[in-house]
Amino acid sequence: MHVQCPWLLDRPAISLSYCHCFHYTISEEMASADRNLLILNFLTLASLSLFCADKAFCIRIPDRDSTTPRELSDQSLKTAVFALGSFWRSEAVFGCLNGVVRTTSGYAGGSKINPEYRSLGDHAESVMVEYDPKEINFRQLLEVFWSSHDPRQVFGQGPDVGPQYRSIIFTNGTEEARLAAMSKEREQTKSRSSILTTQIQQLESFYPAEPEHQKFELKRHPMLLQLIGNLPEDELEVSNLAAKLNGYAAELCPQRIQKQIDAKINGIIRRGWPVLREV
Ligand SMILES: *[C@@H]1O[C@H](CO)[C@@H](O)[C@H](O)[C@H]1NC(C)=O
Repeated sequence: MHVQCPWLLDRPAISLSYCHCFHYTISEEMASADRNLLILNFLTLASLSLFCADKAFCIRIPDRDSTTPRELSDQSLKTAVFALGSFWRSEAVFGCLNGVVRTTSGYAGGSKINPEYRSLGDHAESVMVEYDPKEINFRQLLEVFWSSHDPRQVFGQGPDVGPQYRSIIFTNGTEEARLAAMSKEREQTKSRSSILTTQIQQLESFYPAEPEHQKFELKRHPMLLQLIGNLPEDELEVSNLAAKLNGYAAELCPQRIQKQIDAKINGIIRRGWPVLREV
């Protein structure tokens, strides 16, 4: 069976096990404690794996079900939800931050049960951010929230106009509500001439959006999708690497990270990988 290993199309003997090898090498790498270097390590491994493919053998293939590691147990992660305009962009903004493990586009802030993209009722487009509180905290996420949109614009962001694009900080408990209110006050003093429209509300429910709205920016860049092994949709949605590259694809990573990833990808392309030479 020929499989999704498009970066090897110009090579003989594409093996299924190679693709799995590649794929799970990424997962293992994600278990690494130093996630700051995640992308760098991953891309180094990518070239390593290519070398191994040339030699027609493969790095150990971990068993698909029993050993797929998680870098953190879900209990140690915290969750935050923000609405700041189009969720395609919101997901990209938060996905690239160190300490953010997963991101999900969705709907929150309204009362409609099971909202959908074309009929989301009174909900706002939102992003759910799962983060490691040892690496980034709610206060820092608030900073990113404020600096990533214009909270003075009433019910919209740029050309996206309508209540679904309103600005909301969702909170869980009194401490987060206090931090949110304080940060809004501070932000308001920065722009005395206009009122901040941002609402602060207790999170009631969050409905994940349809698959086509997850990692939307990354999906516009097939080359980047190939680079991480064309993960199936369910894995793409929970992948830390995909969350990071989604931010990179939208050019919304912090500048230092954006440059790091750029350099790594350009290096790989210079070495002739993963360029399709003929069909
Ligand atoms: C809210 O916080 C509590 C503990 O502080 C936690 O157990 C719960 O999962 C949180 N809920 C959400 C939606 O994050």
